[in-house]
Amino acid sequence: MSTAPQGDGLTLSDFLSASAARADRWAQLSVCARAWAAAAARGQPGEALKADAAAVLDALGPLEDLWAYPGVRLMSVLRERRAGDDAAGFARLAQEINAALASGAYRHDAAAWDPGEEAQITAAEFLPPSLTPGEKHRPYFEVLSVTPMDPARWERGRQDARKLRRAEDPFIWELVQVGTFEDALLAVLFNTTLQAVVIQDGFGFRSRHDMSQMREVLNRTLGFDPDQVAVREYGPGLARALHRLRPELDVYLLSERNIEALAGREDCGDIRRLFHGAEELMELHLAILDGVGERYRTAYFDNLKKYAQRPIGTFHALPIARGKSVFKSNWIRDMGEFYGVNLFMAESSATTGGLDSLLEPTGNIKIAQDAAARAFGGDHAFFVTNGTSTSNKIVHQAVVRPGDIVLIDRDCHKSHHYGLVLAGAQPYYIDAYPLTQYSMYGSVAIRPIKQALLKLKAEGKLDKARMLVLTNCTFDGHIANCLRTMQECLAIKPDLIFLWDEAWYGYARFTPFLRRRSGLGAAALLEEQLRDPDYRKRYEQFKTQAGNLDPSNLKLLDMHLLPDPDKARIRVYETDSVHKSMSCLRQGSLVVVKDQDFHSVEEAFHEAYFTHTSTSPNLQIIATLDVARRQMELEGYELVSRMLQEAIALRREINGHPLISKYFRAASPADMIPAEYRRSGFDEYGSANGTWAHWLRAMDEDEFMLDPTRITLLCGNAGYDGSQFKALLAEEHDIQINKTSRNSVLVQININNTRSDLAFIIKALADMARAIDKRLTEGGADERAAFAERVKSLTEDVPDLPNFSRFHDAFRDDPQGKNGEGSATAEGHMRQAYYMAYDADNCEHVKLFSKEVDQRLDKGPELVSANFVIPYPPGFPIMVPGQVISREIVEFMRKLDVKEIHGYQAALGLKLLKPSALAASKKTAVGR
Ligand SMILES: Cc1ncc(COP(=O)(O)O)c(C=O)c1O
Repeated sequence: MSTAPQGDGLTLSDFLSASAARADRWAQLSVCARAWAAAAARGQPGEALKADAAAVLDALGPLEDLWAYPGVRLMSVLRERRAGDDAAGFARLAQEINAALASGAYRHDAAAWDPGEEAQITAAEFLPPSLTPGEKHRPYFEVLSVTPMDPARWERGRQDARKLRRAEDPFIWELVQVGTFEDALLAVLFNTTLQAVVIQDGFGFRSRHDMSQMREVLNRTLGFDPDQVAVREYGPGLARALHRLRPELDVYLLSERNIEALAGREDCGDIRRLFHGAEELMELHLAILDGVGERYRTAYFDNLKKYAQRPIGTFHALPIARGKSVFKSNWIRDMGEFYGVNLFMAESSATTGGLDSLLEPTGNIKIAQDAAARAFGGDHAFFVTNGTSTSNKIVHQAVVRPGDIVLIDRDCHKSHHYGLVLAGAQPYYIDAYPLTQYSMYGSVAIRPIKQALLKLKAEGKLDKARMLVLTNCTFDGHIANCLRTMQECLAIKPDLIFLWDEAWYGYARFTPFLRRRSGLGAAALLEEQLRDPDYRKRYEQFKTQAGNLDPSNLKLLDMHLLPDPDKARIRVYETDSVHKSMSCLRQGSLVVVKDQDFHSVEEAFHEAYFTHTSTSPNLQIIATLDVARRQMELEGYELVSRMLQEAIALRREINGHPLISKYFRAASPADMIPAEYRRSGFDEYGSANGTWAHWLRAMDEDEFMLDPTRITLLCGNAGYDGSQFKALLAEEHDIQINKTSRNSVLVQININNTRSDLAFIIKALADMARAIDKRLTEGGADERAAFAERVKSLTEDVPDLPNFSRFHDAFRDDPQGKNGEGSATAEGHMRQAYYMAYDADNCEHVKLFSKEVDQRLDKGPELVSANFVIPYPPGFPIMVPGQVISREIVEFMRKLDVKEIHGYQAALGLKLLKPSALAASKKTAVGR
C-alpha cells in the first residue's frame, strides 16, 4: 500500500486508506527506529536497520507536508538525527510522534509538539496548543494556507498564526502551508482535519509531486485549464474547486488587489470572506473561529443541555420529565440508572424556553433545520421523528394530488406504496432490473423510465405525470446516475418532481466521490449546468438532432436527452434516515428540499407534515438530528472516507482469502450491475481496473455504481440460505447483519465500524469456512453429495422474480387506450382497490395451492389482489391492491420458502377482490 499520492496506478483504495496507511507507517517507523536504537546500544552494526528506518521515513515524506503535526520542524529534527546517526534520539522522537498521532494527544497536549531540549526549541518559539494545563477540551483543527510565500518563511508564518490564539477561543487551530493549486487539492483530499482554507493571491499551479491522478480529479471536477487562466485568477478557481470537493470547508481569500470589486464577483460566491493583504490577521483568526463555530453550533441540542440544568416545575402530561417518578421508585429505579439522569432532565412536552415546536418551528428547531439544509445541500430541511417511512409519506401527500400519476420503482420501500394510497395517486410501476441469481432486484434503469414518460406523452397524459420516485442507493447498494436521470426526464417533462429516497445514503453528501451521485448533489450540478452558456449551445445542437421528442421515435430511448434550460424546473426532494448512517437516535430522519417551485406546494407541505407528525415528538431524536449534522459537517469527510476504505478492505480480504473465498464471496460491481450499465468497465474494487481515475470515470459515466459499503455476502456456496446464515452469525458469532436474500446476507459498513470489526467478521467467516471444510472432509461421500445438492438448490434453482403485471381494468381510467387497442400506460387507481377491500363483502379468499387458482389463471375470471402482499425477503410488494395476479406471481409465491409474508395468511389463502365487486366498481369508482 502506498501512502504517496503518485502514479496512474493509484487505486481508489490506496487513496482512501492513505490516513490508515499513514498511521501504519508511523507505527512501522517506531518499530524500525527501536530496533536500530537497540542495536546501537549494544554496539552492534546497525546499517541495515538504519536503512529500514530511513526508507519508512522517506516514504512518509511527501504526505507529511500536508499535516500540521508532526510538521516540517519535527520532521527535520528526525532527518537530522538520522543523518547524525543519533539512533536513540531518532527512536525517542519517532515513538513520541507515533504515540501522539495514535492517541490524538497532539490535538490537546503541548508536550507532543515540544520536543524540548532535544530539538533546542524554546517554549517562547513554540506556543503549545492548549494555553493552560488541564483546561476544558477545545476541539482542534487545521487551517490550510495556500501561499506564494517562500517556503523558507513558512515556519515564521506558523508561529505568527499561533500568536493569534486567545484564552477565550473556543477552538485551537494550527496552520499547514502549501505553495500551489495542486498541492492545495492534495491537502484537502488527504488532510481530514482541515476546516478552513486561506488562499493568498499569487501562488503557482503545478505541484512538485507526481500529480497524474490529481489532474484527473481536477479535469473532471472543473474543466480547468491553468494555461488559459491568469495566475491571479487561480484564487477564485481554487475556491470553486475546493467547494466542489469539500463544500463544508470555509474559504478565505487574501489579496493585494481591489478586493471590493472581487467581493461582488459571481465566481467569488464560494469564498466566505475576503481580506486585503495580510493586514487583518486577528480578523482572519476570528473569522476562522466564527466559521467553524457556525458548523459546531447545535442550536437545539445546546439549548436542551441548558434546559436540563434548570430547576423546572413540570405540570404537564409527561411524568417522566425530570425523572422523579423513576428515581424515587422502589420498582423501576433501574430504568433511571440504566438511562442516566440527563435523559429525564432533558424531556419535556413544553415548546417554550427555547425548546421550540417541531410543528411550527420559529426558534432553535428552525435554526437547526436551516443548518441541516445547508449541510445536506437543500434550500429547506425538515426534521422527522418517525423515520423515513414518515418522511416519504409527507412528501407524497404534499406534492401529489388525487389522480396524479407517479412513476415509481416497484421495488421501493413500502412507505411509498402506502403514501400513494393516502395521496390517491395512480402509481405507474416500473420494474427494476432483476438479479434473479440472488433473488433480488437491482435498480430502475433510465430507459424504462423514459419509455413510460414517452408513452404517457403519446397517450396525452403527460400533464398528469407529477413525480418520479427512486431509491438511491438501494438497500443492496445500487447507486443511480441521478444527474442523467433528471436530465433525461426533464427533457420530456420539464416540471417533473423527483423524490430521491436516500434512506440509506445520507452520508454520500460528505464525500466528493459519492456526492454527485446523490439527488441533491446532482441537483446542484444540474442547476449549474442549466445556467451555463456552453450548456445552452449543447442543448441547441441536441434540439436540432432530436426535434420535438416525438414519442413514436424509438431512437429517443437510446439518446441522452437534454432538458430545455428555459423550461426545466429543479424540483428535488430527498429523504434521509439520518439514524441509518449517522450518529442519530433511531427514527431520526430528514426531508431536504430543493424545489424552485416550493412556494406552490408549501402550504400543502405543511399540512402533510401536520398530518404525519406526532404532537409529542421525542426531544432526544430532534437533538441528535442536530448533533449528527454537526458531526458530519465537521468530520463527515474523514468518517466517510474511512468507512469506504474499510468496506473495500473487507471486500478484498473476503474475495482474496483462499479459504473464505471457497464458500463465501463479496458480490462485486460486476456481479450486481449488468455490463450494459457499466460502460466504463468498472467491475471490482481493488482490481487492476480499480484505479482512482477509473472510479471517477465510472462515477461520471456509468448508469449504475455499487456502493462499496453495501456488501452482499454470498453464502449459497457454503450451503446456507440468507436467513439461516443470518441466524448463525447472530447466535454463534455475535454478529448482527441487515437484510437477507435467498443466498446472501447484506453486510453493511458504517461510520461506527473499526478495523477491529473487520477482523471480527473475517475471523468468523474463516472459522465457518474451516468448519465446512472439516465437515466435508470427514463426512464422506454422502455428506459431500448432500452439500452439493444444497448448494445447487440455493445458487441455481432460484425462482424467477415476477414483474408487475397490471392493474385490473376496474381501476383504469382508459383500459382501451387512446386508440382503443388497450392502454399503453400502466397507471391505476390503487386507492380505489385498497378501500374496496374495507368491505368484507367485496373480498374472497382462495388457497394458493388450490385448483381454483390454476383454473382461474387459465380461464378467468382474473385473480385480483385485495391488498399488499410483501414477503421478507425480498421485502417489496409482490402484489398491490387492484393488481391482476399473473401465473408468474403465483409460481413465485408457491416457491417462496420465507416465513414472513405481510398481507398473506397461508391458512386463508390469497385475499382477492370478488369479480362481482369489480364489475360493480367499474360503474361507481368509489375511492378515486
Ligand atoms: C429505501 C427505504 N426507504 C425508507 C425506509 C424507511 O426508513 P425508516 O426506517 O427510517 O422509517 C427504508 C427502511 O428500511 C428503506 O429501505
